[in-house]
Amino acid sequence: MCGIVGYVGHRNCADVLVDALTKLEYRGYDSAGIAVFEKEEIKVCKSKGRLANLTQKMETEGKPNGVAGIGHTRWATHGEPSDLNSHPHSGDRVTIVHNGIIENYKRLKEFLISEGKEFKSETDTEVAAQLLDFYYRGDPVEAIVQTMHELEGSFALGIVFADFPDIVFAVRCESPLIVGVGENESFIASDVPAIIQYTKDYYLLEHDEIAVLTPYGTKIYDTHYNKLEKELKTADWDVDAIGKQGYAHFMLKEIHEQPEAIRKTIAPRITDGLPDLAECNITLDYLRSLDRIFIVACGTAMHAGIVGKYVMEKIARVPVIVDIASEFRYRDPILSEKDLVIIISQSGETADSKAAMELAQQRGAKTLAIVNAMGSSIARGADMLIYTHAGPEIAVASTKAYMVQIAVMYLFSFQLALAKGKISEDECRTLVKQLEETPDKIAEILEHKESTQQIAASLVAADSLLYIGRGLDYALSMEGSLKLKEISYIHSESYAAGELKHGTISLITEQMPVIAIATQQDLFDKTVSNIKEVKARGACVTLVCTEKHSVEEGVADFRFNLPEFYDLLMPMLAVVPLQLIAYYTSVLRGNDVDKPRNLAKSVTVE
Ligand code: AGP
Ligand code: GLU
Repeated sequence: MCGIVGYVGHRNCADVLVDALTKLEYRGYDSAGIAVFEKEEIKVCKSKGRLANLTQKMETEGKPNGVAGIGHTRWATHGEPSDLNSHPHSGDRVTIVHNGIIENYKRLKEFLISEGKEFKSETDTEVAAQLLDFYYRGDPVEAIVQTMHELEGSFALGIVFADFPDIVFAVRCESPLIVGVGENESFIASDVPAIIQYTKDYYLLEHDEIAVLTPYGTKIYDTHYNKLEKELKTADWDVDAIGKQGYAHFMLKEIHEQPEAIRKTIAPRITDGLPDLAECNITLDYLRSLDRIFIVACGTAMHAGIVGKYVMEKIARVPVIVDIASEFRYRDPILSEKDLVIIISQSGETADSKAAMELAQQRGAKTLAIVNAMGSSIARGADMLIYTHAGPEIAVASTKAYMVQIAVMYLFSFQLALAKGKISEDECRTLVKQLEETPDKIAEILEHKESTQQIAASLVAADSLLYIGRGLDYALSMEGSLKLKEISYIHSESYAAGELKHGTISLITEQMPVIAIATQQDLFDKTVSNIKEVKARGACVTLVCTEKHSVEEGVADFRFNLPEFYDLLMPMLAVVPLQLIAYYTSVLRGNDVDKPRNLAKSVTVE
């Protein structure tokens, strides 16, 4: 996971690296470090813990002073977070930062030890540094190419060679890496936010490409040392998009950005009131030919897929199988050319989702990626692509990305239902119109968000809680539960309300709060019966339903009223109070909301 950066130019390199790393901390934050050329010498400073620890260390021990260097913020995969295991790692004349995993590091380490190399850390990264050193005979690119041939796994490296002060080298094998192009300065970074404050122009390095950065420009080579001409890309958002803009946390800001994110995502895909995915290569004829669909993703993105399954099956009558990517890729799935596999991913870099997509392609299935990060690996690898336009999502807990993923699930379902002849054009237009109403309804909910703070206060001391619902509400409750777990550290589970009595209800005591979601008219009474069952056993119940629903007094201790809306689209509204409940519970518990422990935003390792 990790974030890597590099700089060569005219500014104080340590400052640029630290600043760029703050924008990448979402990728990992258990340790950080930099290596900067101070005149001819590479000075390394690294520390366990947050980036703030590194800056503090530099204040006391002195900040390396120079104009070229590399930096790293880590999410450990090999070796615990410690000062020693922090990046950069060095060989005799080479120092590197690394994002990814060197899978064959054990064998290489044994070989290098037999060649007399000594290791200081437990990381796989140090093996890459020592191997580069082993192959280095005066030509850095040659050493990089030879090393690339030996390394297995996924990696992006930022490299400095002691013999080449003020040049930064970089290589990409799977793990993402960009090269920023400024005026008399060049950058490398795992992601665009790291450099946006300095330049919007960048090259996207492809698999097996090597970059050589100087202040006066960057040369990019393939593994045969051929110089490549790359297309210069320009980021279409600016520095404001990655600031908190007055919100206490990115998560709260991103919750508030949801109405706009939906508008931006759906508007370009609607023509004459009907869904129009032709630009994404999805034709009505193709949709008509589909007998079944797989949706494969991880975490929140997978939960968006579950909402998609309910909607697609309900209105288009096409069977949908939702799979966790890490399971799908190893369970030998039965696929054929007739199947469509939809991969949903905010980052477009999730290793398991990417591997699942590649497996589906090997087995002849067509793949459709629904991705937020432009130019990411999954976006580039899929046969068909729908970009969500949530903008950069910085908080580790995903909110606006989920929202636009389900918006796309709806749009896709409408088009599928139309193609399959399950709804008429008029019915489809009505559904699209209803979808277009969601941003305003969400804005309305956000205006009355205070009551979620009271609900959060009732949960703050709990050790464990349950989310229950039926149908679409059950699909949604999974996301509510994950959100709470990930940022409040309170254990929670989501349960189909009707399934409780088959075992789980034995857990209910006064100490086990229950959040019940009941937005579906046809299932409302049934869910209320299930609420009564838990209430009778002492649970403190929060009910999320619409203002039109009437329930007897005493059924719920807290109630969050959603505006009246269409049942099918209720998940888009009901997720908002669930996000806010998780957010405020985390705040009340004093947690680091945007960077919860043990997690990272983009999971580029298995
Ligand atoms: C969301 O809150 C989580 N941090 C996590 O479940 C995330 O959705 C998952 O890792 C998938 O990421 P992706 O969308 O970038 O593929
Ligand atoms: N494998 C390296 C380490 O453990 C990099 C980790 C990563 O990129 O996730 O330090």
